[in-house]
Amino acid sequence: MGLEVVVEGLTKSFGRQTIWRDVSLTLPAGEVSVLLGPSGTGKTVFLKSLIGLLKPERGRVLINGVDMVNDPERKIYETRRLFGLMFQDGALFGSMNLFDNIAFPLREHTRKKESEIRRIVLERMEMVGLAGQERKLPGQISGGMRKRAGLARALVMDPQIILCDEPDSGLDPVRTAYLSQLLIDLNARIDATMLIVTHNIEIASTVPDNIGMLFRRDLVTFGPREVLLTSDEPVVAQFLRGSRQGPIGMSEEKDAATLAAEAALQLPRTRVPEIVPQLEPSPGMPERKAVARRRERVMSMLPTLPPPAQEAIVTSLLPRRRGASL
Ligand SMILES: Nc1ncnc2c1ncn2[C@@H]1O[C@H](COP(=O)(O)OP(=O)(O)OP(=O)(O)O)[C@@H](O)[C@H]1O
Ligand SMILES: [Mg+2]
Repeated sequence: MGLEVVVEGLTKSFGRQTIWRDVSLTLPAGEVSVLLGPSGTGKTVFLKSLIGLLKPERGRVLINGVDMVNDPERKIYETRRLFGLMFQDGALFGSMNLFDNIAFPLREHTRKKESEIRRIVLERMEMVGLAGQERKLPGQISGGMRKRAGLARALVMDPQIILCDEPDSGLDPVRTAYLSQLLIDLNARIDATMLIVTHNIEIASTVPDNIGMLFRRDLVTFGPREVLLTSDEPVVAQFLRGSRQGPIGMSEEKDAATLAAEAALQLPRTRVPEIVPQLEPSPGMPERKAVARRRERVMSMLPTLPPPAQEAIVTSLLPRRRGASL
């Protein structure tokens, strides 16, 4: 089963530039979470901080009792093996074929026999829909296939925590839809805790159990999907609408005068937006084990949530009409 990741009061700067400060959140065990945020807000820096590759100045990241910020390097290194990482650019070795790329972590970090490595690599390639492509070089396949190869490589060490940095960048809408389903199926199969960084509204609204958003050096929000998808917090709503109107500007932040002018124009919201249902595993896949745990967790926090989120949660827990058209 996936592991819980507890982030407490994390602050990261480079020189005099504060990237984000006092970030606290918990990635619940085995659930899928998405981290949103405009370009340059430090999402990649956040992922690197979780695995101990970058060192925040303050705060803790607790996994299985190990603090990925402050504990000795040896402990951090051991715990890093529990992670599977899918990088923003795929990060494949250009001169190695897909098989060798995906086998790389196993050859580097384990003493498994070549026959065992072969079994694992072929199984993971099958999982991401790359069966039969073992001999191809990264330069000979499409961007979407490179992404999936990166995902297969992230999976060979049986990770309990999977971090994906913009798995959808450069994919067309159809590929993105397949990728969304792949991520949910993956979660159903291995019950790993997943954190996905994305700009893609389709993924954000259909894949995760939880959504968070970084903006202006703060984690503006992190919580169950129903809270974010019904939020009228201006930054969140603007991002999910993909609109120019709101606090996020071209150079990330708008000045107060522009915002005031926009606010004066804005119509009051008359109804809570309807939220799209979360994706379910494909037919034949096991159920996601996180679903039952999440239901209990979300129900226990229900009274503390805003009314539109409460309504959305209660609706989502009603039995779905099978075969009803959407
Ligand atoms: N090693 C580093 N040294 C100095 N500054 C860095 C370093 N890594 C990142 N930064 C700075 O931190 C900020 C956040 O970068 P980051 O790559 O995390 O953004 P991001 O949210 O992932 O953006 P995008 O959506 O474009 O990928 C940027 O201003 C970047 O220049
Ligand atoms: Mg990034």
